[in-house]
Amino acid sequence: MSSRTKIKALLESGKTDIDVTVKGWVRTFRNNQFIALNDGSTNNNLQIVVDFENTDPALLKRITTGAALSVSGKLVASLGKGQSVDVKATSIEILGDSDPEKYPLQPKKHSLEFLREIAHLRFRTNTFGAIFRVRNTLSFAIHTFFQERGFVYLHTPVITASDAEGAGETFHVTNFDLANPPKTETGEIDFKQDFFGRATNLTVSGQLEGELGAMALSDIYTFGPTFRAENSNTTRHLAEFWMIEPEMAFYDLKDNADLAEELLKYVIRYALDKNKDDIEFLSQRLLDEEKQKPQQDRSELNLLEKLQFCLDNNFERLTYTEAIEILKESTPNKKKKFQYLIEGWGTDLQSEHERYLVEKHFKKPVILTDYPKEIKSFYMRQNDDGKTVAAMDILFPGIGEIVGGSQREERLDKLEQRMDEIGIPKDELWWYLDTRRYGGCPHAGFGLGFERLVLFVTGMGNIRDVIPFPRFPKNAEF
Ligand code: 4AD
Ligand code: MG
Repeated sequence: MSSRTKIKALLESGKTDIDVTVKGWVRTFRNNQFIALNDGSTNNNLQIVVDFENTDPALLKRITTGAALSVSGKLVASLGKGQSVDVKATSIEILGDSDPEKYPLQPKKHSLEFLREIAHLRFRTNTFGAIFRVRNTLSFAIHTFFQERGFVYLHTPVITASDAEGAGETFHVTNFDLANPPKTETGEIDFKQDFFGRATNLTVSGQLEGELGAMALSDIYTFGPTFRAENSNTTRHLAEFWMIEPEMAFYDLKDNADLAEELLKYVIRYALDKNKDDIEFLSQRLLDEEKQKPQQDRSELNLLEKLQFCLDNNFERLTYTEAIEILKESTPNKKKKFQYLIEGWGTDLQSEHERYLVEKHFKKPVILTDYPKEIKSFYMRQNDDGKTVAAMDILFPGIGEIVGGSQREERLDKLEQRMDEIGIPKDELWWYLDTRRYGGCPHAGFGLGFERLVLFVTGMGNIRDVIPFPRFPKNAEF
């Protein structure tokens, strides 16, 4: 084990006059004397005071922004403002040089767009350090929440033959020789043979496999990458994103909504406790950004207040039909009424409608239930009205849909009838239908988009900034 101490631990130790070794990367080097060193354990840099008169000038020249250093010295109470302790260096070793002429990160504020271009280096900025520490905490919080409640973490496959959502937005998985692919009798590429003789794709959701687990283990959850080949260049969509999908036997729609609300509040509170300084930093960053906007466009609450507000209030619950009534009555910007006046009941909500409900009407998270069956997936439980299904979407301020879920159709005849109506081949999902044949029971589950959760908690505006290696159209280099 290295005898090095992490900077966060040093700053929190409250100790002084001890010998320490720290390792990290130079953020700035002022007056040949003060190094701001960061090792990623916290946003707070450690100030290293260099005895420049007794240090080799050639070494001083190599202390540049981005260089990796090992520093040994004494931890002392700081005389400067802004930090409680400094390290008076007795020895400095350069572990890795960084050519200041070429290093793309200068000690100044870079735009998020620029940093997206150099995503391999953006981890080294305060903003991305904070984001990825919060992301880490949230994923740990999710496991903790489910583990404390006796849920079993189930690993569902990434390569699968099913398109769980039936939306056709799948990436093919192929192992055939692209130069010489198998052909059909009519000479086209035979995609039915693309994975050792079987058509397969990357999973869009682990739900169907998750349901198999829940029909024996009672409560399970998945947490893994999912893939959607939608060519959507928005600030809310990725081609590869992580999803948490709990599935619970003997749950109805209300139990499902209760669990989702409890989970969201739990993980937000967890991050606020564990990463308060990072969230405060991100909140301040947002305030600085907001100052550039005209007064009327600035948000009323800062990030910390927004998160707290979410914890302190019950999520509003209403049906899709009730939401449409509200939208019909509302005129969001004086001149223009919502499209619903023309299209009416049965159409899917667009994000502007979702955001109106959450941000303007209720001003808090909303759980919408009982959507028209035509706009939802085949596996959702049909309601007695013959028109709607026991679906739920959770809508968050600034985000729109963060959770999508439902009570599942456990009645074999109803499920088969719906699959026939939509044209989903029953023989391909024989294994799924078996759970309804043998000991099927009421059950429910939902999918939480992990990046949308991280977006909400960090207050960031673009989903590409909350995943280390974003995948979106034409972006997959590293
Ligand atoms: O609403 P979706 O498509 O639901 C399902 O996949 C269900 N099988 C879940 C279930 O019931 N087990 O996706 C669930 C959530 C969305 O609410 C959203 O937060 C996120 O996944 N999501 C995306 N996140 C980023 N990029 C995309 N392209 C996303 N598509 C969905
Ligand atoms: Mg959805």
